[in-house]
Amino acid sequence: MLARGVRPYNLIDTIIKKVEADNPGQSAIASAATIIRSGGLVAFPTETVYGLGADAMNERAVQRIFEAKGRPSDNPLIVHVSSRDMLSRVVADVTPVARRLISTFWPGPLTIVLERRSEVAAAVSAGLPTVAVRMPANTVAIELIKAADTPIAAPSANASGRPSPTRAEHVVQDLAGRIEMILDAGATHIGIESTVLDLTGDTPSILRPGWITREMIAGVIGPVSLAASGDELSRSPGTRHQHYNPRARVVLVEEGAGRSLDDICAEFLREGPVGFIGHAKVDPDRPGFHAINLTADAEEYARSIYAAMREMDDKGAAVIVVQGISEAGGGAAVMDRLRRAATAIIGS
Ligand code: TXA
Ligand code: MG
Repeated sequence: MLARGVRPYNLIDTIIKKVEADNPGQSAIASAATIIRSGGLVAFPTETVYGLGADAMNERAVQRIFEAKGRPSDNPLIVHVSSRDMLSRVVADVTPVARRLISTFWPGPLTIVLERRSEVAAAVSAGLPTVAVRMPANTVAIELIKAADTPIAAPSANASGRPSPTRAEHVVQDLAGRIEMILDAGATHIGIESTVLDLTGDTPSILRPGWITREMIAGVIGPVSLAASGDELSRSPGTRHQHYNPRARVVLVEEGAGRSLDDICAEFLREGPVGFIGHAKVDPDRPGFHAINLTADAEEYARSIYAAMREMDDKGAAVIVVQGISEAGGGAAVMDRLRRAATAIIGS
């Protein structure tokens, strides 16, 4: 135990700067850019979730991301760029397929994996010959990358394994004292992480589903596969690790499970406090029970699900019962995250 007022040597002061999402202003962006240029860490909003940024060309700075998050070093990072010129500092060759995707979906929540340039810090790619890159559709993020004038490596700004942060408060919970600055522009729009698409194999392959769906991508470049098993998944090392875990145990109830949510919640209430997140009407008046109601809509689920899981932790839930939604459109990406978060799945 540390004596009161004595700080361990490795804690630093985290500056939290509130900025307007559409007009962040010169001064906050300039100080954040200076931190990035000097090898420090800045958490910033993107359209998906908050990212934890460092200069992607600075090996030591990138290593600090792994230390701050407690992230396994074999899990590579996404590099964020603000222009096509900057993209050419990161990847060896922007293929014709990549160019078509970029003109359709950038700036936006599509990450593409291409062959990397050797100037990118090796830790970014965790030893792979490839690099994942995207251009975020968020003014604060773009202004920061431009002002720093360097590609910014940024995983989601949560402690490794925890739900991704959709508000600056979530970053504070996980990383305060470990990073130099947080740019707080309020809640993010989309709420789940970008689609990751590998363009280095014979057929483009989705390594992580996201808001840009397989159908949307296929509409632009033709056949796209969905990495599902062994060999292909080993190309996206991140998918091997535990993800999106609140402290409470998550039980996912799939669509069409054929059991009443009230019965399921009652069953788990015998284990301890239960948090319910879903669109069914459940009886809220039970001791130790807390409900967060969403509409059965993929957009609302994506925007709310991580914050709702963190809120259930704050309320002391032992079990979080989450009601699933349809896989249509963005629902597939939401259900991917919920299945990864779940320790048990009830249903179809
Ligand atoms: O929306 C997002 O993508 C957010 C924001 C901050 O941009 N970032 C994000 O980063 O979710 P992260 O580190 O939490 O997830 C990156 C994913 C991991 O699954 C990782 O394995 C994969 O991208 N990845 C990164 N580089 C890769 C590479 N070279 N080859 C294959 N997969 C890669
Ligand atoms: Mg992450």
